[in-house]
Amino acid sequence: MEKIISLCKRRGFIFPGSEIYGGLANSWDFGHAGTELFNNISALWWKKFVQERPDMLGIRGPVLMNPKVWEASGHVKNFTDPLVECRVCHARFRADKEKELKEHAKEHKEKDIWTESKLFSLLVKTFLGPVEDQQLMVYLRGELAQTMFTDFKIMLETNRRKLPFGIAQIGKVFRNEVTTGNFIFRSREFHIAELEYFVKPGKEDAVFYSWAEAIEKFLTAELGLKKENLRQYEHPSKDLAHYSKGTIDFQYRFPWGWDELWGLASRTDYDLKNHEQLSGQNLKYKDPESGEEFWPYVVEPSVGLERLMLAVLLDGYTETEARSGKEDAVHEVETVLRLKKSLSPVKVAVLPLSKKENLSKKAQEIYQDLIKDFVCEYDETQSIGKRYRRQDEIGTPYCVTVDFESLEDNAVTVRDRDTMKQDRIKIAELKGYLKEKLA
Ligand code: GAP
Repeated sequence: MEKIISLCKRRGFIFPGSEIYGGLANSWDFGHAGTELFNNISALWWKKFVQERPDMLGIRGPVLMNPKVWEASGHVKNFTDPLVECRVCHARFRADKEKELKEHAKEHKEKDIWTESKLFSLLVKTFLGPVEDQQLMVYLRGELAQTMFTDFKIMLETNRRKLPFGIAQIGKVFRNEVTTGNFIFRSREFHIAELEYFVKPGKEDAVFYSWAEAIEKFLTAELGLKKENLRQYEHPSKDLAHYSKGTIDFQYRFPWGWDELWGLASRTDYDLKNHEQLSGQNLKYKDPESGEEFWPYVVEPSVGLERLMLAVLLDGYTETEARSGKEDAVHEVETVLRLKKSLSPVKVAVLPLSKKENLSKKAQEIYQDLIKDFVCEYDETQSIGKRYRRQDEIGTPYCVTVDFESLEDNAVTVRDRDTMKQDRIKIAELKGYLKEKLA
């Protein structure tokens, strides 16, 4: 983890938020490379789970919703974690994290250091308007699903849908986590990519397992995560969330052990039923053939995008022997981020061999043309070896080197991040070559 955190800071992926003021616990800013990578993962999720699926619809709800939403959803009552406090140093921990409790107790060399366990709400509160008044209290959303439930009827009608169909959303959520940590793995604000898939009651089990397959395929084939770093864990019924009749966690082998990456829950008709009861609005589905009215059952795949990005970074992180040429090698070991090319934050780096004016001019012309089609970087500082190394560390699949010969033969050298193979390509054919390679 230390290596990843250091790489992320050094290369502008992710760094501590508001650091000029000493930071804020577990708040993270995403720099240029981090933003591009995050956006690529997010766009891929949308493409695979919304754009390429005729049975899916997209939605975008607000962070602030009527507080009754969270009463009906059961979050006000049940979205809690058990909390204990250390009597010695007053640090707070989740009572269900036995390993952390044991480690902390060891630090104080005592056994009886914990207060009684109390339930602690994960919902973050805020106040709307100029006065801090309980009547104006609202919650920052703790999950996205509730927009899909409150808007179930209007989405059904405006899009003239029949069961089964789903509604998907990507957005930010907030949670008052008792303990945060492991870099961006657990924070108090993060993005979820979530969908609610509505089916006729009785069909939910088959649909649940077909979503499990779709998730597995996305993680391996689309994101390129290694199979040996993934496994599925089915929750015992005592550990299920208040709305779930069955949950599978897709776990990733993080440096601290297997941990949840993506949740798949069978949410029954719990939410629609409760929203109908509290709002007084009919949220049932009317079968167009039989005329039968019922609350659909819901299957919900839900993943934190920052957590997914951490898995992608960890999985792609590799160390190789120095490969930039002896005179340019900075260390004996070099880092290469072997990301799927489609995910790489920068697709092409344009590197003139030297800063000589005529080379820079040629390289700039190439760069200005390529940025219309690819996310590119132009870099003419430092030795070519150091520049390759920098691009390897952010996972850039192709480096285009413009050398003195380029001025004569109108061709450039394209270096492949993974094979290290160098191809000499005519400048006129460069775009087509890169498009084919990056397709
Ligand atoms: N609507 C269902 C739901 O929100 P969840 O398991 O509480 O389910 C979904 O959260 C996903 O969000 C998790 O599988 C995980 O990837 C991510 N996640 C949960 N808590 C997180 C946190 N504090 N920081 C970052 N990601 C988190």
